Amino acid sequence: MCWKWLLVAGGLLAAFSSVAAEKVEFKPGEVWKDTDGEVINAHGGGVLFHDGRYYWFGEVKDRGATSRSGISCYSSANLSDWKNEGIALSVVLADSESEIQPGCIMERPKVIYNRRTGKFVMWFHLELKDRGYEAARTGVAVSDSVTGPFKYLRSYRPNAGVWPMNVAEKYKESGGDEYMKFLRRDLEGGQMSRDMTLFVDDDGTAYHIHAAEENYTLNISELSDDYTSFTDRWVRILPGGHNEAPAILKQNGKYFMITSGCTGWAPNEARLHVTGSLFGKWKYRGNPCIGKDAELTFHSQSTYILPVEGKRDTFIFMADRWKPHNLSDSRYIWLPVTFRSGAPSLRWEDAWSL
Ligand code: GAL
Repeated sequence: MCWKWLLVAGGLLAAFSSVAAEKVEFKPGEVWKDTDGEVINAHGGGVLFHDGRYYWFGEVKDRGATSRSGISCYSSANLSDWKNEGIALSVVLADSESEIQPGCIMERPKVIYNRRTGKFVMWFHLELKDRGYEAARTGVAVSDSVTGPFKYLRSYRPNAGVWPMNVAEKYKESGGDEYMKFLRRDLEGGQMSRDMTLFVDDDGTAYHIHAAEENYTLNISELSDDYTSFTDRWVRILPGGHNEAPAILKQNGKYFMITSGCTGWAPNEARLHVTGSLFGKWKYRGNPCIGKDAELTFHSQSTYILPVEGKRDTFIFMADRWKPHNLSDSRYIWLPVTFRSGAPSLRWEDAWSL
């Protein structure tokens, strides 16, 4: 072969391998390392796209459930190579009065950007030190910069003293479904808020979706214009459904929510729900998972559904495969969402690319 052909072939090979190197590949369940070669520690997390980069926020886990450092942040341009941006929201050391002192529990952090204020707002499930999961609060923190440091503002039992919009007057005293006893019990002090997610609708209105009523019911609560408090507009949905780990996507004007059942760290069957309006009636649409281990969500639990920037109808289902004996070894299960008969579905893949 003449040297010119060798050059052309070499060039083609180089071009091909650089394209191949660009290909973003996901290997659900395998150990996932950051760009420093350290295992990514961002559990129960969520991802925000901002100014051309993705930011992944998650729980920094040690062996147990309690927080010793706080909420981590990693950033990436391609969703595969993640740079450790450090601790976005730190626990407060040396202040035994702080709600976020080491030993508290900080779970399922989600961050959204408020265009009006130019601030990043983080909400997370907060449990107070030495009280197990009984406090059932939600915490909020803000930052001027996406990677933090976030400043902790306060925690809430949401909607104290406010009836949900979808409870009829006649049920305020008694009657209705049996889980309303928890609604009434918590009316004055505020509703419970455990597993949670955030969702920003197309018009910029943000919603906080949280497990309430001893985890029997999900509440959807509208956030204020600056996203740091509640507006008093809220509904309770799927009472008695016992849903946790809510993750939501919007497609073609419909809202789809994937949740888990309530079996702690142990996996169970995912549930798909759909509605045409967030404050409207939600319908159960079965298990979105298909194939082997579909009844256990492929041994994982939902945490977030990530819309891929610039790709229409392309979403990644993010879940955690918890390792209860050493939570820091829990694995990330990221799977592509495919639409079958207009509804999201999930299939296991050992390896897949965008
Ligand atoms: C799960 C929940 C996790 C964590 C765990 C504690 O059901 O989704 O975020 O709270 O329970 O047992």
